[in-house]
Amino acid sequence: MNQFEWPDNQPATFICQRKWQETPNCVSVTLVAENQDLETTFDFIPGQFITLGIEVEGKTEYRAYSLSSMPNKNALQLTIKRVDGGKVSNYIVDSLQEGQTVSVLKPAGEFHIEQPHGERIVLLSAGCGITPVMSMAKTLLADKSDATDIHFIHAATELEQVIYHQELLEMEASHERFHFDVMLENAQGSEYLEGRLTQAALKQFCPDIAERSAFLCGPIGFMNAMQENLSELGMNMDNFYQESFTPAESEQPDVEIAEQADKAQAISNATVFVPAFGAQAEAKIGSALIDALEAAKVPVIAACRSGICGSCKCRVVKGEFTRTSTATLTEDEIDNGFVLACSCQVESDVEVALN
Ligand code: FES
Repeated sequence: MNQFEWPDNQPATFICQRKWQETPNCVSVTLVAENQDLETTFDFIPGQFITLGIEVEGKTEYRAYSLSSMPNKNALQLTIKRVDGGKVSNYIVDSLQEGQTVSVLKPAGEFHIEQPHGERIVLLSAGCGITPVMSMAKTLLADKSDATDIHFIHAATELEQVIYHQELLEMEASHERFHFDVMLENAQGSEYLEGRLTQAALKQFCPDIAERSAFLCGPIGFMNAMQENLSELGMNMDNFYQESFTPAESEQPDVEIAEQADKAQAISNATVFVPAFGAQAEAKIGSALIDALEAAKVPVIAACRSGICGSCKCRVVKGEFTRTSTATLTEDEIDNGFVLACSCQVESDVEVALN
């Protein structure tokens, strides 16, 4: 069996092998690497994501999506939900065809099952946030030497929107150490509880929840509420891990853009220079480096625009900057001026290299 060798910082070409409807508004796809035999396997840590590049309306757009499959299988699986204004997600749901090629950047992310956790964990998700925790659960259960007790709690709007419902029921039926609960906003036609995942509901589902390690993924509002609930229930927050890609698809509200424009008028400009491409752009002091790089048409990939995925990594060779995220960067890279362009603010004229 061959293990696929992920190129570093470069997209690899993959093919959409299979696509199917998972719920009325979300699809699953499997991806295999182009020109690889069908025995090729793909390594990653359950919970990690890939950055997917897809041509939409003539432009390659990049977005980060968590993997829902297990590592070392012959394909990667993603599950993608329709979202308001989600250009890439909606394209995948509506238009991506089996056989179509896409670009894939190697798996990354610190939200994964190899983070320290005890023998009991709770996997908490809402909507499409289920994907990374599904990968974690399946992988732990498939490992015969593992004894982790897993409580899987998922929140959805209604029964038909519960992603992987049948598979989760089967996992519960065949593993004593796997417990599965669902909370629905509208529980009509099901036996599940209706309402929100309050502290009382979490305790009712999982009485020892505060003593477990938690892995949480979902929309930002859900995650904030769950973090508060778990903290108030007495969980040791050193054992709490979370991830959200919500900002990747959200539109900035107009009012914020207007405020930024006002602010920009009042502050001075800097120059962002990228010698390797003979490219240069003006940037407002305090603005995100990624905006200037894109304005200068430098081929930098910005998948999440939230300092999570690491796809926009580049190096500030000269000049001053601040950083709001260093996720995925090593200590060595940080010391050597590497930044995430989406989470790097220009503070003077800067010179940038892509590696
Ligand atoms: S675009 Fe993902 S870290 Fe910058």
